[in-house]
Amino acid sequence: MVSVKDWQELLTVGTENEHIKISGKEKKNGEWVFKRTVNGDSLERGYLSPREGNEVTGWDNALRLLDGSPLRSLHILKADPLIYPYLGKYMLTSKNIGEELLLAWSDKVFPGKNKDMVMAAKWLLGSDRAVILSGAGMSTESNIPDFRSSSGWWKQIDPRTVATVEALDSNYDLFQEFYATRMKALDQIEPHEGHRVLAKWEENNLVQLIGTQNVDGLHSAAGSLNVQELHGSIRSIRCHDCGKEGSIEAFTSHETCSRCGGRLRPAVVLFGEMLPQEAWETTLEAIEQAGLVIVIGTSMEVYPANQLPAMTSGKTVYINAETAETGAGFDLIIEGKAKKTLQNINELIEIGIRR
Ligand code: OAD
Repeated sequence: MVSVKDWQELLTVGTENEHIKISGKEKKNGEWVFKRTVNGDSLERGYLSPREGNEVTGWDNALRLLDGSPLRSLHILKADPLIYPYLGKYMLTSKNIGEELLLAWSDKVFPGKNKDMVMAAKWLLGSDRAVILSGAGMSTESNIPDFRSSSGWWKQIDPRTVATVEALDSNYDLFQEFYATRMKALDQIEPHEGHRVLAKWEENNLVQLIGTQNVDGLHSAAGSLNVQELHGSIRSIRCHDCGKEGSIEAFTSHETCSRCGGRLRPAVVLFGEMLPQEAWETTLEAIEQAGLVIVIGTSMEVYPANQLPAMTSGKTVYINAETAETGAGFDLIIEGKAKKTLQNINELIEIGIRR
């Protein structure tokens, strides 16, 4: 092995008295070789892993020289920017890096990144396929109003007059107008980058299922495959009286059911109605088994969907534009808008899954 450069200190972790140093040098053929020294001693008495000895090749292996470290503290004393990209991946994916160390390293390796996002990314990469629960706040950045924010629907109109079976029965015209308006608004609507991030996470086997209270179909439009619509869909129509399917055009133009002349309605869940059983059971089962549940953009006010996060034995993350009143009980609370927050977490995920 002919070397062209001297060993270069890349990373030193530990304390002044007790530390591990990883050094590297580039060989003539461009390949990098790395070695570890413990307290300045390359013979490493009492520190026998890995089996191959002190030297490994390949950047991705460089950080494995920290594995099995007997050091009590792995705080970074010195790090060369050359190793940062690999350090980032190692810290997000290695089981050796616990939460305390992750937070201690976070500012150095991901300066400017919110630590909670770093933690969320680590949990997502380490969980066996997470479950996402979304609410209306997931869609506001696609220009669909939510319900309970200052600009939400229920600030303009009393839900009892439009979103209940009683409303359908006693004032069908208002009911029809409310849903027809919402349906027509969907024509120009597209999923945003946050929806697409969730679809990518499913594609990369990080997410197994999205349970959504939204009726707008935007998760599916963004490419998510396993979407359970807990409150139904505004994009399909049926007869309230006989159940026959109808068309959006028929509903929006005030037609009645072609079979029985009954009242057409969107296939959404109205207050007082049961949730679609299959969607509910599939979501519940996934949540019970999930290592991680990420709840995005819901005020958690509506039963029974608001019970779901508490049904997991896994970790829970709450992402919402406002968290003061609604975030209690979650393991991690990230205050921020869905799109930017998911994009930010995804930048870390991409580091974690980079080959
Ligand atoms: P809500 O309107 O109750 O809550 C939306 C939440 O999203 C609020 O906490 C907002 O702060 C938050 N939010 C708004 N924009 C956001 C953004 N860009 N990023 C992150 N968070 C944001 O809506 P849901 O909880 O979904 O049901 O409401 C649940 C159910 O109540 C709905 O499915 C609907 C409604 O009545 C029925 O109609 C049966």
